[in-house]
Amino acid sequence: MPQPPKIVVIGSLNVDHTLRVPHIPTPGETLTATAAFTCFGGKGANQALAAARAGGDVTLIGCVGEDDAGTRYIEHLRSEGIHTGAIMKAGPSTGCAFITVDDSGENSIVVSPGANHALMPIHVDEHAALIRSAAALLLQLECPLPTVLHAIHIATAAGVPVILNPSPLTSEFIRARVEVDTLILNAQEAAALVSMTHAEIDAEPQRARAAAHCRQMIITRGSDPTLVITVSGILKIAPPQVIPVDTVGAGDAFAGAFTIASASGMALEEAIHFANAAGALATQGIGAQPSIPGRDAIFSLIPVRS
Ligand code: RIB
Repeated sequence: MPQPPKIVVIGSLNVDHTLRVPHIPTPGETLTATAAFTCFGGKGANQALAAARAGGDVTLIGCVGEDDAGTRYIEHLRSEGIHTGAIMKAGPSTGCAFITVDDSGENSIVVSPGANHALMPIHVDEHAALIRSAAALLLQLECPLPTVLHAIHIATAAGVPVILNPSPLTSEFIRARVEVDTLILNAQEAAALVSMTHAEIDAEPQRARAAAHCRQMIITRGSDPTLVITVSGILKIAPPQVIPVDTVGAGDAFAGAFTIASASGMALEEAIHFANAAGALATQGIGAQPSIPGRDAIFSLIPVRS
């Protein structure tokens, strides 16, 4: 890649506390974990890291607490080559997530936002020039919605492509009817966002895209083909088939890799292959960030064209 695309990510930074369990606990159940570990996570930082490892020049705008975890987190991102000057510190605690992962690699996550909820529109304003000069802006929904909407407004007004992963999906977001260039979301989020069943989205993709208020809608579906709905039609692109170890962060790996692929001028179909490979590789190790793949590993998993 001649010149790494400069992208800006706005989003959360969490410390993930993960327990391996035989199955996801049901209400009222007490379970014994088979392993426990802690690593850095948060959808914003995971996607920033995925974009950096995929070959991007990445700035993360976010907020950690004034605690040791916050300091260590910033050092960690810096060591990964991510620009951290726009990460501020506020309040006593860095965000954290409590995660269970079962034997099939499926997970459930509860997030305590901590400092992530201190990121305000005024902080985005401080970095408006950076956003306006970016090749793309990538966001999720673990920071306050007014902050996310403000950043989208700045980028859109400057003609910067906005890629939004509306996760975790909220009714507040659905009601806001936000218009963006690209939405990346999983099948459950897509169905909830557009109030259609999976079958209805398959049968009437343009109705789904219109209801989602975006130019292109990318729906990840685990090991099933990724569905891409654009103004001119649909694509279904099968991901590499792997046996997942831990699916935490796989969607983030997809979003970060797709952003770099598209910002560096890859054709849409190739960019989806690139992102599918990143997402599949991210399921092959434990923890969100430790398993996010680098550019060479991603390319090695992309199907060779005949
Ligand atoms: O997408 C995975 C991430 O969701 C985890 O790293 C956790 O922190 C939550 O934000």
